[in-house]
Amino acid sequence: MTSAAAFLNAVGKRLSAMSLYGAGHPSRDQAMDQVLEEMSMLLRENAFPVFNFLDGDVVYENCVMAELRQWEWSLRLAGVGVERLEISPGTSRSDLEAFLEEIHARLNLEDAGASVQEVSGQSSIRFGEVGIEGLSDLDPEPLTTATMEVNLREEAETIGWLHGEVMRTGEVPASEAVAVVKLLSLAMHSERDVVVPLVHLKQVDQYTTTHSINVSMLSMGLAEYLNFASVDVRAIGEAALLHDVGKTKIPLSVLNKPGKLTPDEWKLIQTHTTEGARILLASSGHMELAAIVAYEHHLDWQGEGYPEMTYPRQPHTASRLIQVCDIYDALRTRRPFRPPWPHDRAVEFIRSRSGEAMDPEFVDAFLSMIRQWEPRQIALDGESDPEDETRAEEAVDSSSVP
Ligand SMILES: [Fe+2]
Ligand SMILES: [Fe+2]
Repeated sequence: MTSAAAFLNAVGKRLSAMSLYGAGHPSRDQAMDQVLEEMSMLLRENAFPVFNFLDGDVVYENCVMAELRQWEWSLRLAGVGVERLEISPGTSRSDLEAFLEEIHARLNLEDAGASVQEVSGQSSIRFGEVGIEGLSDLDPEPLTTATMEVNLREEAETIGWLHGEVMRTGEVPASEAVAVVKLLSLAMHSERDVVVPLVHLKQVDQYTTTHSINVSMLSMGLAEYLNFASVDVRAIGEAALLHDVGKTKIPLSVLNKPGKLTPDEWKLIQTHTTEGARILLASSGHMELAAIVAYEHHLDWQGEGYPEMTYPRQPHTASRLIQVCDIYDALRTRRPFRPPWPHDRAVEFIRSRSGEAMDPEFVDAFLSMIRQWEPRQIALDGESDPEDETRAEEAVDSSSVP
């Protein structure tokens, strides 16, 4: 067992002991000794350990801890407002005790259905909800590890690996996709406000990777902006991450072809929708929503576009929401056949297609979200150079951007 898992297990045992035995009981003290011992081992390895508790899992050092999957205390801690926990090197026994007393009190209040009260005191432990109200600060001194660095390199590598697995096995490794979306959600909430850090495109063949990450974060941002339930936000994030997974079946020479596509090549590209749905339905895990979005994301909001339907119908809510984010990111990114569009131009384009290609309700929400968040985004490389944009225009005309 890693020292991080041993520490959290000791915390869980001590919390259980607090429920079972009264103050001063030797079992409580023994459990406390264990927490202290495990904490000092942990701090020897990592001076500023940070844990996040999400959906029953524990995220530590940007990874979901496999050994604590569906750890019961993760849900319980998150349930009383501890979605994030930071420990600093000077943490003493009394700091730890004060923290555990606070959690114990919250758990008891929770059981009794009462509201949670803030307790202040001296501690070098910080905890709180992720990205909503910041961390509850038991220590008046600011800590150096207060915010999580937004670095999506590992997530991008995981998506690259995931696409490789799809090519090799024809199935999506579902748990890794879910884990990446959890990490993206964490990255979005690493500051006081929600941040959508769009990823730079370094190489042309990284397009599907960076595009998947950006569309996933934009879509989760939009769903949150619209106050969707968190379980739906996460499901939309997963579907958005995988919306173009069918492109793994298209040769890169066609996907990245500079200049005009032949009618056959265009037809081939269009199959990424049906192929994507097929791959997702063949995969284990609950990928139904992702399959629907993969199938529908190039249909306009009234059901016209591709793949052609005998009886056009309005696509699923998730497909209509993700479509707006998909088009925005596709236009903002440099492609072999056209330069990136500047933000204002992409926004203007989306506005002009509202009610035609795209659902006006989601367009309005997207535009107001992006107006609010735009300054916090990482700007993409190389702004406009408005030449050779024909393929983008063509693509959008024939139902959005490939
Ligand atoms: Fe697509
Ligand atoms: Fe896309």
